[in-house]
Amino acid sequence: ARTLGALGKRVDLRIGTAVDMSALASDAAYRAKAAGEFSSVTPENVMKWEAVEPQRGTYNWAPADELVDFAKENGQLVRGHTLVWHSQLPAWLNNGDFTADELREILHKHITDEVTHFKGKIWQWDVVNEAFNDDGTMRDSIWLQKLGPGYIVDAFRWAHQADPKATLFINDYNIEGVNAKSTALYKLVTQLRKEHVPVHGVGIQGHLDVQYSAPHDIATNMKRFDDLGLETAITEADVRIPMPADNTELEAQAEAYDVLLRGCLLTEHCTDFTVWGFTDKYSWVPGVFTGEGAANILDENYKAKAAYNAMSQDLTLA
Ligand code: G3I
Repeated sequence: ARTLGALGKRVDLRIGTAVDMSALASDAAYRAKAAGEFSSVTPENVMKWEAVEPQRGTYNWAPADELVDFAKENGQLVRGHTLVWHSQLPAWLNNGDFTADELREILHKHITDEVTHFKGKIWQWDVVNEAFNDDGTMRDSIWLQKLGPGYIVDAFRWAHQADPKATLFINDYNIEGVNAKSTALYKLVTQLRKEHVPVHGVGIQGHLDVQYSAPHDIATNMKRFDDLGLETAITEADVRIPMPADNTELEAQAEAYDVLLRGCLLTEHCTDFTVWGFTDKYSWVPGVFTGEGAANILDENYKAKAAYNAMSQDLTLA
């Protein structure tokens, strides 16, 4: 059977996965699947600020460089994740008592240094991640508190200066359907485009749960972003299940992956569909949602689940 990556290429769609660098180093089966099944990759953690600058001014690019090299060997594109976020910040930044001017300069330097380090090697950057609350207000992060909402404009301009060829995304979760959060994001990017801020894409994470209905209006939602001239992508798809998972739940999970993927296939400039890990052997889900798991398209033994077959079928028919 053809891989998801190969099936996607026929319709000009990259099929990606988040990559866990410790699994890549220690598990040959994981490495073979990551290399063979997908046409793009996203570092699950190693490009985040706490990972690249654990001590102020001391950079650790090695794990991220390793993924960039892996992608090159395997003909894969790389999504950079993520430059500005409220989470996984280094302790020196969280605990430091910086003035607004200092913090702005710290953020400028971080974006410039990281984007410059990877210049020419990153296809799409998640420049700003999770800036909104579910009710559509802006998340009360260190960035909003100290710099005000203008931090978003600054971040895109700084990233564009450092690598003018990279495609720059704003990324968030719970924005699959039309709702208060996706509408707030829509208003923001409408304004940014008017002001010629270099924002090029909207990333829809796609973290779903079989206990809630799948976002059947996703194509309607994605079309309004497409109509603004923006690219879109599903950037972190997974569908968690209360454990143990039974067959009905695995079918519901397959349906949810199918809803996300068809949303992308129906949207003219949806460029990639990335799963947030591909095997139930490694996943962030059980650590965060107690009692839930089995969120990925392959089981712990790398055997295809109904979700994998649904994706394969959607791509075959596309
Ligand atoms: O690196 C340390 C290690 O030194 C330490 O020994 C170990 C002990 O807990 O923790 C390690 O850090 C962990 C880190 O992943 C790297 O493995 C953190 O505890 C753990 O909380 C962290 O979780 C990541 C999470 O983001 C943090 O918010 C997940 O792996 C990652 O899948 C998840 O990804 C996010 C996206 O970036 C944004 N969207 C939501 C998505 C899921 O939460």
